[in-house]
Amino acid sequence: MPLPFKLKRFNAETNAPPYWSDHTVEVEPTDRVLDALNYIKWNLDPSLAYRRSCAHGICGSDAMVINGRNRLACKFLMKEALQESAVITVEPLRGFPVLKDLIVDMEGFFAQYRAIKPYLVNRDPEPATERPQSVEQHARFEFTTQCILCAACTTACPTFWADKEYLGPAAMVQAHRFIFDSRDQGGAERLALLADSGGVFTCRSIFNCVEACPRGIDITRAIYQVRQKMLFDKK
Ligand code: FES
Repeated sequence: MPLPFKLKRFNAETNAPPYWSDHTVEVEPTDRVLDALNYIKWNLDPSLAYRRSCAHGICGSDAMVINGRNRLACKFLMKEALQESAVITVEPLRGFPVLKDLIVDMEGFFAQYRAIKPYLVNRDPEPATERPQSVEQHARFEFTTQCILCAACTTACPTFWADKEYLGPAAMVQAHRFIFDSRDQGGAERLALLADSGGVFTCRSIFNCVEACPRGIDITRAIYQVRQKMLFDKK
């Protein structure tokens, strides 16, 4: 079936006003929005810019605003899009500077990610084999290991839009992943950072992040657990 698309276009190099480009693409109900973007780029308008890599919801590179909501273009099907609208709109993520069309500048996002030390901190002598962990210990943070750093959560958050000092939900999720890892010894440093302005108490529990996460991570639960750890369990 032929399906109309409206794509938000902008080029930071020319700084001309943003505009919408219109395209009609022949699609199947089981095609993904990414398939349509690929068709447009490869057949109709090679100047269209967007990120994608794995095409299977793993790399997190093609998060964008589709029909007004943050989604991965490689996971969102035409039949789902059509239930919402007869015209599919695609825009870049909100709250980051747009570089070109659907590509945003994620430097700030990754700077916030790096700030929470997203790696195992362990000052003990290196063991001869692995650092063992029980199933129960792993279960404490398993859900936050699901994050693919697509930024759908952070850019859905009104608090982040209004306060660029706020570390944002993705950084909180990554902090949770290491704070609750029984093998890690960097929790106190991360908790000190997250206690500052821009940390976990800046979250207003709006839940946009939970709705936006393409991995189904209960982000508000992760933030709540970090708060609890900070307030009641200094270990
Ligand atoms: S292209 Fe990798 S998550 Fe969509």
